Amino acid sequence: MKTKAKTVISLKNISKVYEGPPPVKAVDNISLDIKEGDLVSIVGQSGSGKSTLLNMIGLLDSLTEGAIEIEGQDVSVMSDNELSKFRGEKIGFIFQSFFLLPGLTAQENVAEGLLYQGIKREERLKRAKKVLQDVGLGDRLEHLPKELSGGEQQRVAVARALVQNPAFVLADEPTGNLDKQSGDNILSILKELNKQGKTIIMITHNLDHAKKFKKVVKLVDGRVVA
Ligand SMILES: Nc1ncnc2c1ncn2[C@@H]1O[C@H](COP(=O)(O)OP(=O)(O)OP(=O)(O)O)[C@@H](O)[C@H]1O
Ligand SMILES: [Mg+2]
Repeated sequence: MKTKAKTVISLKNISKVYEGPPPVKAVDNISLDIKEGDLVSIVGQSGSGKSTLLNMIGLLDSLTEGAIEIEGQDVSVMSDNELSKFRGEKIGFIFQSFFLLPGLTAQENVAEGLLYQGIKREERLKRAKKVLQDVGLGDRLEHLPKELSGGEQQRVAVARALVQNPAFVLADEPTGNLDKQSGDNILSILKELNKQGKTIIMITHNLDHAKKFKKVVKLVDGRVVA
């Protein structure tokens, strides 16, 4: 029998105030437990604090108040170096606007995801190739981002987040810029990863997508309302 899933990410009364002017309380006192293997979507209107919340969970942005524990470790006491290392090993982040490096091929862009882990270039490229094959881009390894469609670029961004085999995959509207079919394709990739045991948190405006998630967190003005 399956034992009860353990909490892997715990948000304890976290808040984020942007100084401004005018000051904006983008995230307002959120407490939330994410369990191992969860598939969570974050929904809410534009400006409700979704990206701010995800960036804090992804250790890309500091908290104004509260604490975050990931796998039982209080990340607020970590130094910048420790944070980078922790992020590199544990968290795969997919940005809405891809952030691919224009001068690098698809394969090199994905290999960048392993840059800070002391893995040799040849091995990095080998692993990048494998992950690109997994997302259906095995025949686009040498293409530059500008030679790829939007959906393909997004799949490269997904591959880059996955190449280090992270426990957590965080995605900020990864299907927002895509046509329906490319968007559904990205969603299937994420759902498949979840089946393999990865914990996934994804922001979406797409209610059809949100419905397919086991947990939906709805934000209004930086607060969880459902
Ligand atoms: N760097 C910043 N400095 C000041 N205010 C900011 C900053 N980033 C975001 N905000 C404000 O914080 C609030 C929450 O922004 P956030 O980007 O988290 O919203 P969101 O829910 O992701 O919206 P969207 O769906 O449009 O992406 C917004 O009102 C925004 O104007
Ligand atoms: Mg956003």
